Amino acid sequence: MRARRWSVAAGALGLVLMASACGDGGDGGGGEQVEVFSWWTGGGEEAGLNALIEQYEEDNPDVEFVNAAVAGGSGTNAQAVLEGRLQSQDPPDSFQGHAGAELQDYIEAGYLAPLDDFFDEQGLHDALPDQLVEQITYDGSVYSVPVNIHRSNVMWSNPTVLEEAGVDAPPETLDELLEALEAVSEETDAIPMAVGAQWTVSHLLESVLLGSLGPEGYNELWEPGASWDTPEVADALGTFEEIMEYTQEESAAEDWQEAARRVSDGEAAFNIMGDWAAGYFDELGALPGEDYDWSASPGTDGTYMWLSDSFTLPEGAPNEEAAMTWLELVASQEGQDTFNPLKGSIPAREDADPARYADSPYLESTLEEWQSGPELAGSFWHGVTVGNRWKNDIDTAVGLYLGDGDTEALNAALNEAAQSE
Ligand code: GAL
Repeated sequence: MRARRWSVAAGALGLVLMASACGDGGDGGGGEQVEVFSWWTGGGEEAGLNALIEQYEEDNPDVEFVNAAVAGGSGTNAQAVLEGRLQSQDPPDSFQGHAGAELQDYIEAGYLAPLDDFFDEQGLHDALPDQLVEQITYDGSVYSVPVNIHRSNVMWSNPTVLEEAGVDAPPETLDELLEALEAVSEETDAIPMAVGAQWTVSHLLESVLLGSLGPEGYNELWEPGASWDTPEVADALGTFEEIMEYTQEESAAEDWQEAARRVSDGEAAFNIMGDWAAGYFDELGALPGEDYDWSASPGTDGTYMWLSDSFTLPEGAPNEEAAMTWLELVASQEGQDTFNPLKGSIPAREDADPARYADSPYLESTLEEWQSGPELAGSFWHGVTVGNRWKNDIDTAVGLYLGDGDTEALNAALNEAAQSE
C-alpha cells in the first residue's frame, strides 16, 4: 500500500491550462459571429465539439464560429472564467453548463434567457425525458438545451493487469474492490487506482458515496438540511480513505485524460471516471475488452449516476440570432447523433438512432441500460445535485483532506457544507 499526500501543487494545473483560453467575446466589429463557451479542448472532449462546429459552419456559411473553450476537465477553470464574464455583463452567445442545481444558480442570478418558445417550436418537450426537463425548468420556464446524458459511475479497468493480479473480473462491491486493489499492489507494478487533478478525487468520492450508501441514501444527502454526521457516511468515507491509499502520488498536476490513459496503457488497474473516457479511448485507438474494460463502479450496478451537458442563451448575448441557430443544431436529432458517439455520451433526446452508437460496445450497452429505466442518482461534482456554493465547499474540504488525510475533518466539513444550504 502507498500512503499518499498531496501538496498544493494542484493549483499549477489551473494556471497552465488557463493560458490556452481563447475567444474574444464580442463581435469584433466584423461580420456576424457566434461565440460558444465550453471546456472541451482536450483529448476526447474536443472531437464531438469540432464535429458540431463543422456542421454549424456548413449550415451557416455567413456566421463566423468563435470557439471560446477554456481548458480544464469538468470546467474547473472554465466556470471561474465564465462567472467573471457573466458578472461583468460580457456573456458569450451560448455556454455549456450542467442541467440541475448548477443551472438553477445561473437562472437565479438572472444570467439566462428562457427558451419556452424555442422548446415549443422544436418540439423539445416531446423529444426529451420529463425528468430531464424538470432539471432545466425554473418557475415554469425552461432555460437550456441538453445535448447529452453522461454517466459518472463507471469504473474502467485493464484486463491484462487484472489477470496478472489474479483478479478474475472487475469487482462488483466496495469490499471486492479493496481486495482487488490490494492484489494489484502485491502482484503487479501497476498503480491500483489512477486519479488525476483534485476534481477527479471528488469524482471518485461521489461513486464511493453511491456505492456505499445506495441510491436512496445517496440521494437523501442532497436534500436541504440533510445530515452527513451519520455512521453510514463515516463508513463510506472510511472506504474512500482506504481506496485513496492505492492511488498514485504524483497525479495532482494531471487531468482526467492521463488517469484514463494509464488504464488503457496498462500502467494502472482501475480508474473511476465518467464516460467521456469512452470517447477518449476511441480517439487513442484503445480497444474495448483488450486495452480496457468497464463496469458500474463497485456497489452501484443498476444505478445511473447521470449528468447532462446543456447549452444556454445568456441574457444580453451579443449575437442572439446566431445563438439560436446554434441551439437548433444542438437540440436536433442529427446534431445529437453527430456529437454524442464522439463524446462518449448518449443523446438527451429519446428519438436518437441507436445505429449511430453501435460502433462502440460501451455506448451500445450504456444506451440500452439508460433506456431500460435504471435507478437514477445525480452527480454532485457535475452540477446535478449541488449549486456552485455547495460544490466549492466540498472542493475545499477534499483539497484539505488531500493535504492532511484527516477523514473525520473531511466528514465534519462535508456536514457543514450541507448544513449551510
Ligand atoms: C463534465 C462534463 C463532460 C466532460 C467532463 C470532463 O463536467 O459534463 O462533458 O467534459 O466534465 O471534462
